Amino acid sequence: MRDKTLKAADYLKSKIKISPEIGVILGSGLGGLADEFDEEVRVKFKDIPHFPESSVKGHKGEIVAGNLCGKKVIAMAGRIHFYEGLSMAEITFPLRVMAELGIEKLIVSNAGGGVNENYVPGDIVIIKDHINFMGDNPLKGAPDFIDLTTAYSPALRSLASAVAREQDLDLKSGVYVANSGPSYETPAEVKMARIIGGDIVGMSTVPEVILANRLGIEVLGLSMITNMAAGITGEKLSHEEVIETTVIAQEKFKSLVREIIRKIKV
Ligand code: HPA
Repeated sequence: MRDKTLKAADYLKSKIKISPEIGVILGSGLGGLADEFDEEVRVKFKDIPHFPESSVKGHKGEIVAGNLCGKKVIAMAGRIHFYEGLSMAEITFPLRVMAELGIEKLIVSNAGGGVNENYVPGDIVIIKDHINFMGDNPLKGAPDFIDLTTAYSPALRSLASAVAREQDLDLKSGVYVANSGPSYETPAEVKMARIIGGDIVGMSTVPEVILANRLGIEVLGLSMITNMAAGITGEKLSHEEVIETTVIAQEKFKSLVREIIRKIKV
């Protein structure tokens, strides 16, 4: 694993011109932020040694590195999901490589279903905690009993709230319940998620957050609510709807993340 990480990191170092301070993982339909970098270099996942490749519509599958709001940022435009059939080690490999390149903070985003009935599609939620129902863990095989009490950095959560207040953005805060997917949840699963304290359901983020904590990287997690979770409105869910909502609500997501990046202390 270490050899592969170094090989991928060396390859990226030979392409990108910066030593990144902040890593960003852009979830389904949220890749637009990567178009706003200055002097950016783009590298396709498939060209990086040992990188997994994304197969999902709306996921670009490239690394974008450059300057954004005065910071040196490396972004994954598209991520690899557990439901694509790869192991947790494989899907979190890009994060290991970003850590090797020196990132100290990670902003991880996703599209999620709203479980909390106070949410509406288009809302952005700061993840304050998670429940892992993916049935796996990226640290399996190299047991590390890491503490996850503050897996989602309180300091970065306060910064995100402060930026949202400045932008008059009604930013919510909630618990993310991760399922493996790729099928969406059943109404009964959504009801259970609510009963056990969940606010959002999704199929990503948790593996990366666990590994980031293991690697000593401070994490901010943001979910865009793209639909109400199954059974809440009675409407059927579709991947098209998820992507459509991210397109509509993308601008406020980008303004929020840009300003957070400007204000993060690195
Ligand atoms: N469930 C799981 N993942 C999702 C959803 C959902 O309702 N919406 C977007 N990603």
